[in-house]
Amino acid sequence: MNIESSFCPILCICMIFLCLPNLSASQRCNNNDKQALLQIKTALKNPTITDSWVSDDDCCGWDLVECDETSNRIISLIIQDDEALTGQIPPQVGDLPYLQALWFRKLPNLFGKIPEEISALKDLKSLRLSSTSLSGPVPLFFPQLTKLTCLDLSFNKLLGVIPPQLSTLPNLKALHLERNELTGEIPDIFGNFAGSPDIYLSHNQLTGFVPKTFARADPIRLDFSGNRLEGDISFLFGPKKRLEMLDFSGNVLSFNFSRVQEFPPSLTYLDLNHNQISGSLSSELAKLDLQTFNVSDNNLCGKIPTGGNLQRFDRTAYLHNSCLCGAPLPEC
Ligand SMILES: *[C@@H]1O[C@H](CO)[C@@H](O)[C@H](O)[C@H]1NC(C)=O
Ligand SMILES: *[C@@H]1O[C@H](CO)[C@@H](O)[C@H](O)[C@H]1NC(C)=O
Repeated sequence: MNIESSFCPILCICMIFLCLPNLSASQRCNNNDKQALLQIKTALKNPTITDSWVSDDDCCGWDLVECDETSNRIISLIIQDDEALTGQIPPQVGDLPYLQALWFRKLPNLFGKIPEEISALKDLKSLRLSSTSLSGPVPLFFPQLTKLTCLDLSFNKLLGVIPPQLSTLPNLKALHLERNELTGEIPDIFGNFAGSPDIYLSHNQLTGFVPKTFARADPIRLDFSGNRLEGDISFLFGPKKRLEMLDFSGNVLSFNFSRVQEFPPSLTYLDLNHNQISGSLSSELAKLDLQTFNVSDNNLCGKIPTGGNLQRFDRTAYLHNSCLCGAPLPEC
């Protein structure tokens, strides 16, 4: 076989590509998406994590983004873990209309408000703006993003009240608002949240009672710890609930725990430490397969039920009550 004749066509094809490296036909990337991304890069002052975002290259091959297999539109933009990145969320994110996932996470020098332009992203399923210095209120436009399954605004500096309208999001599975500076009460309507999502509101400055509407709700995880919530949460328990995790530690709840005699069988995590809960511990608690349990620093009294799982936990789970006694605490 003649080596030259077999190599020449390949060589020629290679030459064509070498001479015309920017053949747009060879790029999957949508040009509008590319322009929006390049503007985002400029707005963020060209952080090194966007070094692969070079105008001549196919944006579907860039770092931090993902293109849809068939439409080739940008469906995911994930910017995270960069202490050097300084600036605000560029409004041009609103020019990526096919985004299903938008994350700005672990960016301590990302500041400013959550931009209105995000409201244009009607396909968003996962929005995570977390562990940043974002401030200002929780915007009111989220109910327009009806495909959201995960809304994570945790570990920021968001202020003001929790918008009740969030509860209309029909597909939400998890709402993360923990570790902000949110004030006011938990909206009454939150117990009627469309799909009973997991709700994380811990470490804010929320006050008032947990709405009675939660009596009918059926979430799997609720973390309302580290607020100033008061009153009675007995109605969250019950044998027909699918609740697995309940954390109300670090509030000012006050109710008689003796009156709670039925628990969700699925409950594995119950942290009520540091409240003003009175009464005694039900023997039904001992029958649960609890992996985490803490009732320290309350006003509880009486014998810790034996014959079940409550002795799994060391004395720190029971310390600082009025008169709790029995293993792992001293005999009654
Ligand atoms: C709590 O309820 C139990 C049972 O109803 C009752 O015997 C007890 O006195 C109550 N304790 C307090 C502190 O109100
Ligand atoms: C219970 O909570 C207290 C206060 O946060 C903590 O110091 C202790 O270690 C916890 N104990 C268990 C067993 O979780």
